[in-house]
Amino acid sequence: MNFVFSEIALPQNGTLAIPVFAENTLSPTAQEVNDMTDGALVRAIEDSRFKGKSGDMLVVMAPQGVEVSRVVLFGLGEPEELKLADFENLGGKLIGKLNASGAKKVRVILDGLVDSPITDGEAAARVAFGAQLASYRFDKYKTDQDDDSLPSVEDFEVASASADEAKSLYGDLDAIAQGVFLTRDLVSEPANSLYPETFAARCKELADLGVEVEVLGEAEMEELGMGALLGVGQGSVRESQLVVMKWNGNPDAKDSKPLAFVGKGVCFDTGGISLKPGPGMEEMKWDMGGAGTVTGLMKALAGRKAKVNAVGVIGLVENMPDGNAQRPGDIVKSMSGQTIEILNTDAEGRLVLADALWYTQDRFDPSLIIDLATLTGAIIISLGHENAGLFSNNDELADQIFASGKAVGEGVWRFPLQPEYAKQIKSPIADMQNIGTGGRGAGSIVAAEFLQKFVNGKPWAHLDIAGMAWSKKDTPTVPKGGTGYGVRLLDEFVRRNHEGK
Ligand code: BES
Ligand code: MN
Ligand code: ZN
Repeated sequence: MNFVFSEIALPQNGTLAIPVFAENTLSPTAQEVNDMTDGALVRAIEDSRFKGKSGDMLVVMAPQGVEVSRVVLFGLGEPEELKLADFENLGGKLIGKLNASGAKKVRVILDGLVDSPITDGEAAARVAFGAQLASYRFDKYKTDQDDDSLPSVEDFEVASASADEAKSLYGDLDAIAQGVFLTRDLVSEPANSLYPETFAARCKELADLGVEVEVLGEAEMEELGMGALLGVGQGSVRESQLVVMKWNGNPDAKDSKPLAFVGKGVCFDTGGISLKPGPGMEEMKWDMGGAGTVTGLMKALAGRKAKVNAVGVIGLVENMPDGNAQRPGDIVKSMSGQTIEILNTDAEGRLVLADALWYTQDRFDPSLIIDLATLTGAIIISLGHENAGLFSNNDELADQIFASGKAVGEGVWRFPLQPEYAKQIKSPIADMQNIGTGGRGAGSIVAAEFLQKFVNGKPWAHLDIAGMAWSKKDTPTVPKGGTGYGVRLLDEFVRRNHEGK
């Protein structure tokens, strides 16, 4: 789909989409079209449930008096109350409806926004961004699609009083969308095609954008003493990998500490010898969602040339139960020197992160570390699919992440960390054990306490995204499947708090 930004003018053909505000107040263009069509728009509104509320939509086919084949009225409610997300959702809903309609050419005219806190250019850019996010499809494995199931829109034009501003704002948003799409692609890819080595190869492609990419294999990780991560991968025929991605977008500050993002990349989680039940196990192809988000974030930062120095580290393994697999009861030594008794091979994500986190703080001395992981089923019990779990040893960092999530509509909710929970992972024979003694209680917190033992006191936050990386339902800007959750949140976090602009 092509995105174009233009000045306000009525199109000669195709589909025209125009705003209506609260109490069915027509925008100036909508008023003009209503006059040209001898009142067709008002007649259509009067015989419908359309009220001009944000989210309302009404299609009028081929009204007489104008050249276009279709007029779409969309509600924007009270202009004073409009938020960026309203425009993104508008773009998403419009494209969803029109892609199924056969329309090929669309021009959205955004006028009548004088009382809105959002500038015309920003509004236009966000409509395009929302349409773009909504138009994602993962259909590379469909070899036989009938034409009527394919999206029909080819050209999506947004007309506003500030086309130049829109175009320039859209540049960064497009880069973010490309990051989100990379994450969605990685998360959607099945495990026979996406395994540690092929995932690492996808990371290497970011070199085109100026990201420095290093890949460590098993020999190098053994050398470093990463017994926790390697133990998880030892039952797989696929070689484990650790990928380091560096974006040095602020060379003036090259001697100051970078930001670090760390991801759980379990390319498939069978549970290992503590085997998971069969039904639903296919979902564990997306147990690399944390690593997927870190990779998409690096792409977004590089794509928009963010003025920041950031490093992304992802631990890539496959958790399989073969003759060489790790057993319950095994004791491994992590890179930190701490030993871990493995009581459940299905609590593997924390083992991968233990070494990835320690390596990251040891090598880069980052100013802060944020890790992302599809870590626990328990977080889905707590929060469902509306928010990720947030855990942090630093209130300021936690508040910044919370605010960024709110701003982009990717919610987080904070959980406590405290020594009483950490007691649950004391082992009688090793430095710690990989599951708590509390049974079904506080599983996500206990997992976070485990991770905290590997950050060496650095400012750190952990996002448990098990409920967020994949969605079974569409929302206006996120089609079902891999969501790309976290890319927008962390991009916003970087933009607000760490860019020397
Ligand atoms: N990858 C799973 C967590 C998960 C579950 C992610 C459902 C997405 C959807 C993780 O490795 C796991 O198996 N966790 C166990 C931990 C338990 C053994 C302490 C869990 O949540 O049951
Ligand atoms: Mn598991
Ligand atoms: Zn897992």
